[in-house]
Amino acid sequence: MNIDGKPYRTIWLDDDGRAVAVIDQTRLPHDFVIRRLASMAEAAEAIRGMIVRGAPLIGAAGAYGMALAMAEDPSDAMLGQAYTTLLETRPTAVNLRWALDDLRGRLTKLPPSGRRAAAYARAAEICDEDVAICRAIGDNGLALIRKIATRKTDGAPINALTHCNAGWLATVDWGTALAPLYRAHDAGIAIHVWVDETRPRNQGASLTAFELGRHGVPHTVIADNVGGHLMQQGMVDFCIVGTDRTTRTGDVCNKIGTYLKALAAHDNGVPFYVALPYPTIDWTIGDGLRAIPIERRDAREVSHMTGRTAAGAVETVAILPDGSPAANYAFDVTPARLVTALITERGVCPASEAGLLSLYPEQRPERRA
Ligand code: MRU
Repeated sequence: MNIDGKPYRTIWLDDDGRAVAVIDQTRLPHDFVIRRLASMAEAAEAIRGMIVRGAPLIGAAGAYGMALAMAEDPSDAMLGQAYTTLLETRPTAVNLRWALDDLRGRLTKLPPSGRRAAAYARAAEICDEDVAICRAIGDNGLALIRKIATRKTDGAPINALTHCNAGWLATVDWGTALAPLYRAHDAGIAIHVWVDETRPRNQGASLTAFELGRHGVPHTVIADNVGGHLMQQGMVDFCIVGTDRTTRTGDVCNKIGTYLKALAAHDNGVPFYVALPYPTIDWTIGDGLRAIPIERRDAREVSHMTGRTAAGAVETVAILPDGSPAANYAFDVTPARLVTALITERGVCPASEAGLLSLYPEQRPERRA
């Protein structure tokens, strides 16, 4: 996508052919800063500290982390150490495990001398594939939005509601949940997006609003508690979110607060769509509530907030009384029964095992055995 007229991806190989460049998402929306990751340890720290975040981008960064490790030392020992270090950075988004398994599987078959080039090539391929996947999700979601548009008789814009950031910043380009919204906007469909601020880290207020604003998509940031009211008032035509891990049965793990929006949508008859690429499907898990590891992050993300002062300085302030403990659960699970449909690169399907298998028949147990 474009920033001030210049096209960017969220991650790319630096000019030296070894280091990896990323957009520092901890600095947005106030500063647009490029960070250079020169080692596996720096890549791991960038994922842990959410300089890069969003499930597909975490996967791509993990792949480049493996490549950086192989540039440092292509031994078996480093391969194992890089895999473990990178995997431990964030536990919920399964795209990370998917990318690391993929790289480790290929690299272990090669002699050390062939690993560096193979790792960089595969990381680049994963990035290109993510862009193609997200474009396809955009196309498949656009078809749904066109149908919703035909039901609008008053000429008013379609109102979508989204949570967290599942836009191009969360992927390599285009995004998952935001891709259909960009495609609709670009196709001339009048669309307005309600953007949940998404406390505690404000991915909605800081990142989704930034993205939509730069692309010219009309949007309004709302506090996280507003969506239910808007749905009761008929002010939301559909919800669309991304996911960090979706089970083979269609349970959707996503940013904390997604479940409450799905409940409100269900109660008000508002369609609730989840957009996802295939690496986000965890075929090994059937019960999302019990089996998906939910990341718990530093309480400081709840007790403090960062913003820009009138004088232009970016500052962090405490918002809790001294001594009040805070808890920081980063994700929740929305049961499949609350999801209207899943939008993938292969098409749209019910949030169920049968639905997912209809799009991914190669995952049928008899074919995998
Ligand atoms: O903690 P984050 O910012 O990495 O969480 C991101 C989300 O929850 C997104 O909604 C999800 O990764 C889908 S992104 C395409």
